[in-house]
Order: sequence, then C-alpha cells, then structure tokens
Amino acid sequence: MTTAFVITVDGPAASGKGTLAVRLAADYGLPMLDSGLLYRAVAVSLQRAGGDLDDQDAAAAVARGLDAAALDDPAFRSRAAGEAASRVAAHPAVRAALLDLQRAFAAQPGGAVLDGRDMGTVICPQAPAKLFVTARPEVRAQRRWRQLATQGEGVSFEDVLADIGVRDARDSGRAASPMRPAPDAVLLDTSEMTIEQAADAARRIVEAARAGWVNS
Ligand code: C5P
Repeated sequence: MTTAFVITVDGPAASGKGTLAVRLAADYGLPMLDSGLLYRAVAVSLQRAGGDLDDQDAAAAVARGLDAAALDDPAFRSRAAGEAASRVAAHPAVRAALLDLQRAFAAQPGGAVLDGRDMGTVICPQAPAKLFVTARPEVRAQRRWRQLATQGEGVSFEDVLADIGVRDARDSGRAASPMRPAPDAVLLDTSEMTIEQAADAARRIVEAARAGWVNS
C-alpha cells in the first residue's frame, strides 16, 4: 500500500519548524496540522475551567472533548499557553486522547504536513518525508522573544531563554512520546539560516524524499 504524501516537521520550540511547515504546506498544496495548538488548547481550556495542569484525568477529559475546529483563540499563542501545553502534553492519557484526531488528519488521501514533536515517531512513522528542525537555544530564544514582542508580550530575553531550556528538558525528558528525531528524519539546523535559506533547504529535503516515494 502506498502511503499518502505526508511531511512531518518536528523539533523544539522556536526552531523555525512552524514557519517551515506553513511554507511546505503552501508549496505542495497540502493541509497542515499544527499539533502544538491542540496541546495549547487543552491546557488553556483546562485552566479556564479551573482545573489543575497536573491532573491527568481532568486534562484527558478536556482533550477528549476538544473542538479541533475552534483553535483560533489568540490566547493559545501566548507564552504562558506554551508552557502550560508542555505540562499537559507530558500526560500519556492526554496524548492518547489526541491520537485519533491527529492520525485521521495524517491519513487524508491527498497527504498532509504535520508540525509537532512526535509526528515522525508516533503519529505518522510511515511518512515518506521527515524533517527534524533545530537551532541553538540562544537563536531560538531570540526568535521567540521577537515574536512575543510583536504579539505585545513584553518579556526579557533571559526569561525566554530560560523558558526554552525548561521546555526542551520537559519535552525530551518525558516518558510519553518524548521529542526526538525519527530514525529516518533529516536534521535541519537553522541557526545560521535566514527563513528563505531554511525554506529552500527544507524543500530540497522534501524533494529528495518525494523522488524516492514516487519511484517506490
Ligand atoms: O509547538 P508548540 O510550541 O505550540 O507546542 C507547545 C507544547 O506542546 C510543546 O512544548 C510540547 O510540550 C507540546 N507538544 C507535544 N507534541 C506535539 C506538539 C506539541 O508534546 N506533537
């Protein structure tokens, strides 16, 4: 059976993976799933309901009831939401509750671009094109700091850098679907690249994977 053309784009916070996933989705005319938004929505919804981020059962109940069509709330994009998301994302029951939705997105006949932490390892290990996008923590902190500033969140660079360290440790150290490259993922370090250079490099990686996929 041939797998639909799925591109997975995993990597740590502010590595550039989100921007690259959007570009690739536009280039190939594919729908894109920003899976981080699902965890952000679960965390913010749980907090709004007065729940505790460490309460796995409550978080999983929110995840099971998540309306995937209502993810455009700007509150989900905040710094606090990212931090809260990484706490609920460590609960295996939350991840299990979001599994079918993500796999169904990946299984669309035309293919898809999947942006996250475990897209290539857990959600769609059979994807023909897998990228793991990374960059040095200082570079990522600089990017995230600028992005937060444009969103009107005044926060110091040092605090953003510290956040990134905490998030990296939590996302890669958790037992449930830790962030890591799939064995066949191509690593793309964007530390020294402009967005255009990174987009070109990502496209080349995908083109190479596509050539192998078409001929398989
Ligand atoms: O990518 P984003 O920064 O929006 O993700 C927020 C948090 O959601 C991450 O730090 C991570 O803990 C969690 N996440 C995850 N698995 C994914 C996507 C995001 O655990 N596939």
